[in-house]
Amino acid sequence: MTTIFRLDASIRDEGSVTRAVATSLESALLAHVPDTRVLRRDLGREPLPSTVWAHALAGSHIPDGERTAGQREALALASELGDELSQADAFIFAIPMYNFGVPPHVKAWIDVLIADPRFSPRSAKPIAGKPAYLVIARGGAYGPGTPREGWDHATAWLKLIFRTIWGLDLTVIEAELTAADVNPALAELRGLAAQNLERAHAAAIEHGKALAGRFSEAEAA
Ligand SMILES: Cc1cc2nc3c(=O)[nH]c(=O)nc-3n(C[C@H](O)[C@H](O)[C@H](O)COP(=O)(O)O)c2cc1C
Repeated sequence: MTTIFRLDASIRDEGSVTRAVATSLESALLAHVPDTRVLRRDLGREPLPSTVWAHALAGSHIPDGERTAGQREALALASELGDELSQADAFIFAIPMYNFGVPPHVKAWIDVLIADPRFSPRSAKPIAGKPAYLVIARGGAYGPGTPREGWDHATAWLKLIFRTIWGLDLTVIEAELTAADVNPALAELRGLAAQNLERAHAAAIEHGKALAGRFSEAEAA
């Protein structure tokens, strides 16, 4: 049986583009490989406690017997997060852009994982080469020639972590202008936003099917 790990990080359920696009990918995969096990972590609904990272970091440098209860709990959670990634054959990361960067709960999750020797930049990259999909949504547009070109500090950093530090075989599925329907300043870009969203769902479905093909081939081999 194949296992995928899905991370959600939007702080909203209703209307979340990242959740919807990630579900398009997941559903396309499950339609072809129904016995896929899906491990889920939803940081938007349940962020990690803000003390976990510092406690895990401090606790990792001292013998177990000398750790505080908080450090032991933090290390247990860190190890649970690492186990979730280690078990997966593929990954879906559904992450919105907030305030020109990554959501704080995603930064916290990655910091805690990097404190785990398995996922530090000096590790042997235990999940390297596995397929991963970053579904990212941005309310505005940041491409070349736009007034805010260069203001997106989320996408490049997430690529650095997933692709360079963890070695994943990463595909990025982007939806821009998702705020066009609610932001009057973007009203004239609503048509473009709708096309963009349609393209993101279509890409997600194609990637879900392709991933199913990869899993089926691996099972047959
Ligand atoms: C608190 C907050 C901050 C945001 N900051 C930005 C931003 O800096 N730039 C941007 O383009 N969109 C920003 N957005 C819009 C989101 O990126 C956009 O709504 C995206 O679709 C959110 O993902 P979701 O649809 O999965 O919830 C922000 C939204 C919220 C709620």
